[in-house]
Amino acid sequence: MSWTLYRHYKGNHYLRLGVAAHSEDLSPQVVYRCLYDNPEARTWVRPQPMFDGVIADGRQRFTPVGRLRLVQPEDMRTVLAFGYDAWKHDKTFDQYCAAKDSDPHHQRGTRYLLEDVAGQSVAALNVLRFRESLIGFASVATSPEQRGKGYASLLLRAVMELHRFAQPDLRFLLFSEIKPAIYERLGFRVLPPEHQHFLPTPAMATGDTPLSIVEAEFLKVYF
Ligand SMILES: CC(C)(COP(=O)(O)OP(=O)(O)OC[C@H]1O[C@@H](n2cnc3c(N)ncnc32)[C@H](O)[C@@H]1OP(=O)(O)O)[C@@H](O)C(=O)NCCC(=O)NCCS
Repeated sequence: MSWTLYRHYKGNHYLRLGVAAHSEDLSPQVVYRCLYDNPEARTWVRPQPMFDGVIADGRQRFTPVGRLRLVQPEDMRTVLAFGYDAWKHDKTFDQYCAAKDSDPHHQRGTRYLLEDVAGQSVAALNVLRFRESLIGFASVATSPEQRGKGYASLLLRAVMELHRFAQPDLRFLLFSEIKPAIYERLGFRVLPPEHQHFLPTPAMATGDTPLSIVEAEFLKVYF
């Protein structure tokens, strides 16, 4: 499974979900999802030749900027290298990988990888499905050489929108080990004190309603 990410010529980012046949004439229609807050709609369709075509001045309407895919076992060392500088705790890289291999927490979840347009792996994260409508993010990391280019934000947004497409009422949780601004820009808010069990790493969540008792329980067993 993989999904291409695009930048529209006006600057916004989109995730291509697939191609559908028009019910009236079977013409191919690209189905794609906004990676920004568009109050009009989040999922759009457009005739494939138009999606893949150029605008009046000759520029591509949508330019590929990367590809989202699931992490495969052979990607794991690459993915672990992304967060090694932050989480190594004096371990050599081999020791760090071996410790992760034997850590049951590390075996949980579904990992997603972002590749740049050249096919190079640049960022990854882990999706922990706590309940049907509750997902936690963990191990968000970008390759040290690729930081500050928006890859972690793009990956988070793409994974959120991919899941929201299937289930619009999803809520996302995470613990921020860095200043929370990057996550606030994606709609996360720092939770009130009663939900903070691992300070100074604040728990954050999307959504305006208070966490239910059941949702809040997952914050205690997150790590
Ligand atoms: C945090 C991390 C994933 C960001 O990746 P990235 O691809 O550079 O992120 P983006 O380019 O999408 O966003 C950059 C934003 O991240 C934030 N950020 C990145 N590193 C940060 C740090 N050490 N402290 C505080 N904020 C940080 C900033 O808000 C920055 O925004 P700015 O450019 O406006 O200052 C990356 O620095 C990383 O892998 N760090 C090591 C692992 C880690 O700490 N992961 C986070 C766990 S919660």
